[in-house]
Formats: sequence, C-alpha cells, structure tokens
Amino acid sequence: MGALPRLDPGPLGRRTRRRLTRFTQTNEPARCATLLPLLAALPQPLALIEVGASAGLCLHPDRYAYRYDGGAVLGSSPVTFDCRTEGPAPLPAALPGIAWRAGIDLNPFDTTDEDDVRWLQSLIWPGRAERPRQQLAAIEAVRTAPRPRIVRGDLVDELPALAAEAPADATLVVFHTAVLTYLPLARREEFAALVRELPGHWISNEHHTVLPWLDAPAPDDEHLLTLALDERAVAFTAPHGQSLHWLGATSAPSATDVTGVSDVTPPA
Ligand SMILES: C[S@@+](CC[C@H](N)C(=O)[O-])C[C@H]1O[C@@H](n2cnc3c(N)ncnc32)[C@H](O)[C@@H]1O
Repeated sequence: MGALPRLDPGPLGRRTRRRLTRFTQTNEPARCATLLPLLAALPQPLALIEVGASAGLCLHPDRYAYRYDGGAVLGSSPVTFDCRTEGPAPLPAALPGIAWRAGIDLNPFDTTDEDDVRWLQSLIWPGRAERPRQQLAAIEAVRTAPRPRIVRGDLVDELPALAAEAPADATLVVFHTAVLTYLPLARREEFAALVRELPGHWISNEHHTVLPWLDAPAPDDEHLLTLALDERAVAFTAPHGQSLHWLGATSAPSATDVTGVSDVTPPA
C-alpha cells in the first residue's frame, strides 16, 4: 500500500491547528500583593528570578500600587491591587528595591505584542470583571520599564545558568506562583534541590499539595495557595492575590521576623 495522501484539513481544521499553537497560561499580577510582605522584608536590593513567569508581570512588584484592608495606598501606579489580610501579616512600609530581574517560561509572552495581550486577556475566567481591567492596567504600568529577559525553556534546566547571571551584590530571590503544579513530583524535587544550593531566598506560592514536604497545615479552603519562604509556610493566599492569611505570631516587617532567623544576609 502506498503512502496516504496528505489531506487538507479545511478551514475549520486550519483554524483549530492555529489555535493549538497557543497554551492556556495566565499571568496574574495581583499576586504581587501577597508576595510583597516577603519581598519588602528581605535585604535590599533584590535580584528576582521568576520561574514560570508567563508574560513577566509578577516580575514588576515595584511598578504597582497596593492597598491592604482598604487602608493607605502604597506606591503610585496605573493599577492598585486590593488585598484583605488576616492575622499579623507584616505589611510593607515601602516597595522593594529591585536591582535585577529575569524569568524562565516554556512559552514567554510579550506584553508589547497585541496578539499575546489578547490571548492573555481571553484566558481570564469570566466572573470577576476587575481582573482583565487590572491586567491591562498592569501592562500599562510596566510599558515604560525595561523588559526583563524571560528565558524560553524548562525551569529546572534553565535555572542554574540564569541564577549564575544574577548580580552578587543583590539578594537573589527565586520565586514562583501557581507553576510547580505543572511539573511531576520528581521534577519538583529536582527543582527544590537546585534552589537549596543557591544563595539567597526561595519564595513559593503554590497549592499545599504541590510541595508536600513542607511542614504546613492544609487550609480550610482548598482553593487557597500556601506562601512559603525558604520552605517555611508563612501564609495562605487567595489564588488571584485578593487575600493573605498570615500564619503564626509574626507581625513586625523585618527580615528577621519574616524569616524567623537573624542571620539573613545578601548572597556573597
Ligand atoms: C498558571 S501560569 C502562572 C504564571 C505566573 N506565575 C502568574 O502567577 O501569573 C503557569 C506558567 O508556568 C509555565 N510553566 C509550566 N511548566 C513550566 C516548566 N516546566 N518550565 C517553565 N515554565 C513552565 C507556563 O508556561 C505558564 O506560563
């Protein structure tokens, strides 16, 4: 039997094939409101690496404004993220200073590309009208900022080389929100082993089942994520940054209190 002829899939098939070249990957900058208390409490300035950065909007926590519990607005920006808190969250008094930032993603988006922005907007679930509006405002907020480099590739494979580029005189922070769930457990363990070897700090914001070795209570609400610093759970966070439920008795906004250790130093 000869080879089958290559069939034209027709207009519908061609459209479907085009659509399959895109993946469902959101980017929720409002999550920065839940990362900020940790970022602001670490020794400044920071060198940020976000793994699973998508369009990189969470790499600009210093370009947004924040209002915790309806109080005073911190920062000045086209977008303000509101966040409810519970417990003695160490709310930041100032935005973090960021000396360097970079990311890794299997498929980085470009916020200056109209098609990418349309796709990002279309991935936001219906039901919360402010989310697409806030995402556009966040894109506007970072429009004039230098675009951080987002390396295309797998976060385990690419992390060592990217971390080696971080400036040594800033505190390296590797972070991720709603990302490691896409990796099998063995790859998550490989990633954890890599980050433990790096200088600086590791901030994770993932469902509590994703890093099962963390010594953390499960939240009552299964939708919440667990925020951890260096594998120590510090808070539960709402999936889109709307709330922060601080665990434990920490209230003062200092690196010592947030980390629970007194010898937090920038990487050598
Ligand atoms: C749900 S999105 C979250 C994006 C961003 N962290 C945020 O909170 O808005 C997950 C992102 O992780 C990326 N991702 C998933 N697996 C990855 C891997 N193995 N290496 C690098 N990026 C990955 C996806 O491409 C996607 O952009």
